Amino acid sequence: MTNMELYIATSTVRGLKPLLDTYDGVYVIQSDLATPEILTKQLQTQPHALFLDDSSVPITALWEVINKALLSGIRTFIGLYTPASQPYAEQLRGGGAKVITRPDAESVAAWIAQELGLQHKAVSREQRMLSIGVAKGGVGKTLLTTLLAEGFQRRGLQTLYLDGDPSNPGGPTTYRVSASSLSYLHLAKKGAIPVNVLQQHIIHHPSGIHLLLGADPGGDDTDLDLAAWRGLLGTVRQLPDERIVLVDTGPDYKRRPYAATVLREDGYVILPVQPGQAQTTAAINMLSHLANKVPGAERRCFIVYVEPEKGSVSKVSSARAMLESNFPGVRELGVLPRDARAVSMAGEHHHDRYVSPLDVGGKNKLVPAITTLVNDLCTAMDIMPPLSAPRSGLLQRMFGGQRAQAPETSSGGAR
Ligand SMILES: Nc1ncnc2c1ncn2[C@@H]1O[C@H](COP(=O)(O)OP(=O)(O)O)[C@@H](O)[C@H]1O
Ligand SMILES: [Mg+2]
Repeated sequence: MTNMELYIATSTVRGLKPLLDTYDGVYVIQSDLATPEILTKQLQTQPHALFLDDSSVPITALWEVINKALLSGIRTFIGLYTPASQPYAEQLRGGGAKVITRPDAESVAAWIAQELGLQHKAVSREQRMLSIGVAKGGVGKTLLTTLLAEGFQRRGLQTLYLDGDPSNPGGPTTYRVSASSLSYLHLAKKGAIPVNVLQQHIIHHPSGIHLLLGADPGGDDTDLDLAAWRGLLGTVRQLPDERIVLVDTGPDYKRRPYAATVLREDGYVILPVQPGQAQTTAAINMLSHLANKVPGAERRCFIVYVEPEKGSVSKVSSARAMLESNFPGVRELGVLPRDARAVSMAGEHHHDRYVSPLDVGGKNKLVPAITTLVNDLCTAMDIMPPLSAPRSGLLQRMFGGQRAQAPETSSGGAR
């Protein structure tokens, strides 16, 4: 099927192109201005469809162009945002144009897609996306994310670690890769990233875990705008080989609502909660925020308590009581024990080489906890890992440096 050509000209609806690029069968050409001169020029290429709005010049100044477009059979979509434009809506509709008055990119993209009968590009149905994050830094997000990545990977599920915390990226440090090597940030800021371009930016780490780094330490680290982030996630959803995508999500969830975006992509959110009044309240606030933003969010949010440090008087049971009374529908996945020894052994002893905290120490408390968390997550997300979970006596065989060997018969989970 050849692509339908869609020309969009707007200076107010920011991020429209990346959203439209997530649809199949359409080729989007963009201009930041809708002026008669630019539009006239573009119409000569006979696009199939045209979106313009009153952001650059008054709609009356575009009358002639709109007529020309309609006469040559171009599907014409018009955004009328200024009060001065409103009286013309009926007239334009009468002439065969489609009119919208909501200037947000999501509405406009969904509207155009529906009118043109566009379908979202095929996404990997086998993929599960999880955002790990809370409103506070230093809680253990990165540790939990990287441990889960190991856990999923060792069950034979190809895992992509996506660094979504550009202000304090944990991926490069943990995996001992140069943070300057391959960042999606500069790519994504330019707009949508085609799948094949994105694939080139995935690092194939010796652990088997795939990495997509977020930050440019040398460069400017201004954020992705939301549309660019959505476009990025939409592209990640099309990656055919990644079964699990874990997004290490920064704490600034209002300015960077990445967790909400993951939920909207049918993904899940894990909130690591360190017991204590402040942390628990932060988690409750974030849950309220997500529940407001995304219908049904509670059913796809999970809590993992992070065991308090020695000497702390905060208790998991108090945090649990507080969370359960506020959000009875949110499921607790378990408690991540504190194992400073395993973490520091993995961190300190091998300066240039990544060692998983799951592979060090004799009595490693993280191993059984991660085994259970991964198992429960697979069940909750309805996914069947190709490799079996270690039986209790065999924990060390799986996590003690050797990988599990015999693939279990699986019902459709393996690829
Ligand atoms: N369960 C744990 N056991 C041992 N150390 C932990 C645990 N959770 C977090 N830490 C330590 O706390 C610090 C902050 O954790 P990190 O994962 O970087 O947090 P965040 O990504 O939320 O900022 C790190 O030094 C980490 O190793
Ligand atoms: Mg971190």
